[in-house]
Amino acid sequence: MTAKPTLETPRLRLRPYSAADIAELLPLVGTREVAATTLRIAHPYTENDARAFISLAQESDKMWLAITLHSDGRQIGGIGLRLEPQHQHAELGYWLGVPYWGQGYATEAAHEMLRYGFEELGMHRIFATHFKHNPASGRILKKLGMRYEGCQREHLRKWDQFVDSELYGILRREWKSSD
Ligand SMILES: CC(C)(COP(=O)(O)OP(=O)(O)OC[C@H]1O[C@@H](n2cnc3c(N)ncnc32)[C@H](O)[C@@H]1OP(=O)(O)O)[C@@H](O)C(=O)NCCC(=O)NCCS
Repeated sequence: MTAKPTLETPRLRLRPYSAADIAELLPLVGTREVAATTLRIAHPYTENDARAFISLAQESDKMWLAITLHSDGRQIGGIGLRLEPQHQHAELGYWLGVPYWGQGYATEAAHEMLRYGFEELGMHRIFATHFKHNPASGRILKKLGMRYEGCQREHLRKWDQFVDSELYGILRREWKSSD
């Protein structure tokens, strides 16, 4: 099992999950708005879903961390890298509770996860996808310096609809040169 890090940004602390987080997590992650633009967040989201998630988050190929506020320690969302060590690549994913949208928190957290992935985990490439109907996520990925790599047409099925999946990625050498 790989130790999970605690990462700091100016406004945020990204820290490992524990079972004690479930009560605060459920109302945040459980809204339809959060589920609507994510692939793996169930809706309705139950306590069992949260327990299964926190158990999966202990696995060595998952770097899934709670996004919390420095100011009062409150959870506001989640962020993670799913590692594929064989390829030295990782998939980035994130979500925020609705009251915390539109304040730059996702970009701030994701920027730090990229740094961690490249500088401390030695990744060669980090990529992310978003549903076409979620342009805010595409904007975040561009702000991180990721390159648009194309649209996988109707690649995914969400709530009985086939949806386009937009792919973005960044290589280690591009990350370094973007500093
Ligand atoms: C997507 C999500 C993470 C964005 O979080 P956030 O903290 O509000 O994002 P940020 O404030 O860091 O950045 C959002 C950017 O998108 C822009 N944006 C917001 N809505 C937009 C829209 N409809 N079209 C285009 N850009 C949009 C914002 O203006 C901002 O860009 P700017 O800084 O250049 O102004 C959040 O809405 C969320 O958790 N949604 C549900 C889960 C989800 O979709 N996760 C991502 C799955 S790929």
